[in-house]
Amino acid sequence: MSLTDTYTLANGTKIPVLGFGTWQSADGDIAYQSVKWALDAGYRHIDTAAIYGNEASVGRAIKDSGIPRESLFVTSKLWNDARTYETVTNALDVSLDKLGLDYLDLYLIHWPNPAGVQIKGENAWQSANAETWHAFEDAYTAGKTKAIGVSNFQIHHLEALTKTQTIAPMVNQNFLNPSDQQVELVAYNNAHNILNEAYSPLGTGKLIDLPQVSSLAEKYNKSIPQILIRWSLDKGFLPLPKSTHESYIKANADVFDFVLTGDDIASLDKLQAVGELHTNADQVSF
Ligand SMILES: NC(=O)c1ccc[n+]([C@@H]2O[C@H](COP(=O)([O-])OP(=O)(O)OC[C@H]3O[C@@H](n4cnc5c(N)ncnc54)[C@H](OP(=O)(O)O)[C@@H]3O)[C@@H](O)[C@H]2O)c1
Repeated sequence: MSLTDTYTLANGTKIPVLGFGTWQSADGDIAYQSVKWALDAGYRHIDTAAIYGNEASVGRAIKDSGIPRESLFVTSKLWNDARTYETVTNALDVSLDKLGLDYLDLYLIHWPNPAGVQIKGENAWQSANAETWHAFEDAYTAGKTKAIGVSNFQIHHLEALTKTQTIAPMVNQNFLNPSDQQVELVAYNNAHNILNEAYSPLGTGKLIDLPQVSSLAEKYNKSIPQILIRWSLDKGFLPLPKSTHESYIKANADVFDFVLTGDDIASLDKLQAVGELHTNADQVSF
């Protein structure tokens, strides 16, 4: 496996096995430079979102890299303030415009049950997601995005969507790392041919000092972040590490010259709940 190896989504789209995260990479020089470093280091998969506020800088870095569009995989996400057919379609157009792209490779519904939907009624998220997904299906059919998926969806959100969908989500992006392995959700996604993307593979930086991982880091002559990213790959997930430092960006991609043994994966699996757990998607305040 290498940085440009791919998983194949349910519709046949190829997606590079490791992506570059950009949440909290400030718009302007920081987002621009970190994406540039990532592309220079060989990453070909960039993960952004409308709410990150950095799509224009990400787009500029992509353009300036000179890498052919077809060699890149770009994901963005629909924010929570758009949940009608028209507003969803418009939001995708705005993201494309900011990124300076004709199409996305993957478009995700960022959260299944935003606060604005909750106040409209107990089950409002179901009809809101159905309408949102209809707009996603049409955008996909129109060629504005090569694949469509969801993020932070739990099993009940996915099950509700099946009642009206004509195209199934191809990806579910979730908080996944040794501290929260979301075993049932991962199994559900796998059983339904939905790729598990792992956001916060380093626990947003909070897992990088874990003493329980330092002996493994020594054993493999790797850093703790590299061990955590490798664990994610060895689980069959698609990790999305983020950094704004060139040395970390390079190091996080240097995870293809080793694999963890089954015993070492099992020892990392014992770290469930050692740090934070995922946010309850039905209780978000945004
Ligand atoms: N769909 C969603 O709701 C959702 C939610 C969260 C995240 N995501 C996606 O997943 C991506 C990754 O998740 P994340 O941003 O939460 O965090 P993460 O990748 O788990 O961790 C990033 C943090 O770790 C630090 N770091 C990275 N590599 C390091 C290294 N080799 N050594 C030491 N420190 C290192 C970074 O520092 P510096 O930046 O200072 O270098 C940053 O503080 C996001 O950027 C975003 O694209 C999606």
